[in-house]
Amino acid sequence: MKTDFLVIGSGAAGLTFALKAAAHGHVTIVTKGEMNECNTNYAQGGICSVTYEPDTFEKHIHDTLVCGAGKCDPAAVELVVRRAPEMIRDLIGWGTRFDRTPDGRFELNREGGHSEHRILHHEDLTGAEIERALVEAVRAHPDITVLEHHFAVDLLTQHHLGEFVTRHTRGLACFGAYVLDLRTNAVETMLARCTVVATGGCGNIYSSTTNPVVATGDGIAMCHRAKAITENMEFIQFHPTALYHPGEKPNFLITEAMRGFGAILRLQNGEEFMDRYHPMKSLAPRDVTARAIHTEMTRRGEDFVYLDVTHKDPDAVRSHFPNICEKCLSIGIDITREWIPVTPAAHYCCGGVKVSTDGETSIRRLYALGETSCTGLHGANRLASNSLIEALVYADQAARHASGQIGRTEFQEGIPDWDFEGTRHAEEMLMIIQSKREMQQIMSNYVGIVRSNLSLKRAMRRLSILFEETEELYNKTKPNRDLCELRNMIAVAYLVIKQGRELKESVGCHYNTDYPKEG
Ligand code: FAD
Ligand code: SIN
Repeated sequence: MKTDFLVIGSGAAGLTFALKAAAHGHVTIVTKGEMNECNTNYAQGGICSVTYEPDTFEKHIHDTLVCGAGKCDPAAVELVVRRAPEMIRDLIGWGTRFDRTPDGRFELNREGGHSEHRILHHEDLTGAEIERALVEAVRAHPDITVLEHHFAVDLLTQHHLGEFVTRHTRGLACFGAYVLDLRTNAVETMLARCTVVATGGCGNIYSSTTNPVVATGDGIAMCHRAKAITENMEFIQFHPTALYHPGEKPNFLITEAMRGFGAILRLQNGEEFMDRYHPMKSLAPRDVTARAIHTEMTRRGEDFVYLDVTHKDPDAVRSHFPNICEKCLSIGIDITREWIPVTPAAHYCCGGVKVSTDGETSIRRLYALGETSCTGLHGANRLASNSLIEALVYADQAARHASGQIGRTEFQEGIPDWDFEGTRHAEEMLMIIQSKREMQQIMSNYVGIVRSNLSLKRAMRRLSILFEETEELYNKTKPNRDLCELRNMIAVAYLVIKQGRELKESVGCHYNTDYPKEG
């Protein structure tokens, strides 16, 4: 199959790119589940954009840089903050509804690390509303083909023409991808003039995550295998307030916007404790809050703290957070009268595939967008609600850039079809499940909110055994989704540990007790 633009992933990043690029050529989107199975669909708090005084671009830039702890790329921050209002207009044009006050202005949320109210939202279901609008616009577009239940296995480069390639090979280019049709188990060679990896995050490398099951870091792993450059992978952001409800996967999120609304973090004995950690108390940046909760839980041997919103007007709580109210009620907690048990969970990958301001990776004809990418916006710690807007701005940048290249780019001939050697083993599934669990335990135990040189070394040693076993299995087995995902998660976990070991300081989301932070 041949297509001008091959887009892998159907979240905010992939769909926005598709809608913009379709004016310049045919777009094919492959996605491994239904269209709306993605992190985007779960986003609660909202999407950042400066709208009204007293907020300014300068304040949004400042908050992003402070949160990123000195590791942001100022050019990326400027770009996203200043282009955000345009992207909001596009979203509204595609049919997204944001909540408004009676006088027609946007109703704005506030979250940790923000000096102003600047987060547009749709109740506490912002991501689902954005995804709905994008999916409808994509489905209605005559020049976009959507292939659901299609799993991208690997990117095509000169390696598939028999050449030896490294991360330093000049002229390394991407020619498309091998894609597994999950209904027929056939692997198709999809050739493209331009390939976009927008496969989201990797929360499932940990035992507890707010991410849906599709977030297995496939794109980051594929790009790494294709010899693209990745960076900042050690900065895995843990959300401070996932609902404590043992056994439930993914961990249900209690939006930070609830703390922006006035909810307070308390220990199990009722004590407010965040004033001991940060002047912004319960609205401190996410890394500080997650670490404070982790410290208190470890010190007390407790599994959760509480979030208390009972002092606020019950009707206002119900109208701002209908989805959270309903979810908590379903497990017997009336949040207008009772405290909510919460615990941190892996939430967001601040690093990823390194890209330029046009979203281009170090490989020609290959773009990475959204959570898969590392644009430099987030630095060592993402400011809440900055990711959806980043996905949109960079999708637009990439669509403009790729459209300019497409006329001069030919399809690559000579790529061999997938080699179907290999057999399926009866015991294979059990092994995969077991290895996945082990990998998640390694990451949660040794590469969590707090790490050390020893814990990272131990994690690497244990992971290398899983790596070898999984490669062996992969090389003698027909490709299937579970095994490919496991292989990808191991590759991503490796990058998190490796890049964590290279960083000799504690900063943002990476806290290493061998390099204690002052203050
Ligand atoms: P996704 O939306 O995750 O889409 C990735 C797509 O790629 C999916 O369709 C997936 O099925 C597909 N895919 C993956 N691998 C493959 C493969 N191998 N082959 C084919 N397809 C594949 N951010 C904010 O800015 N504001 C918020 O309020 C907010 N709240 C959040 C709440 C939760 C619970 C979570 C989990 C995240 C939240 N985030 C929020 C983060 C934000 O939602 C994500 O960073 C963002 O949606 C990522 O968009 P994306 O398009 O990059 O990836
Ligand atoms: C939230 O609503 O707390 C999540 C916001 C985000 O991750 O940006």
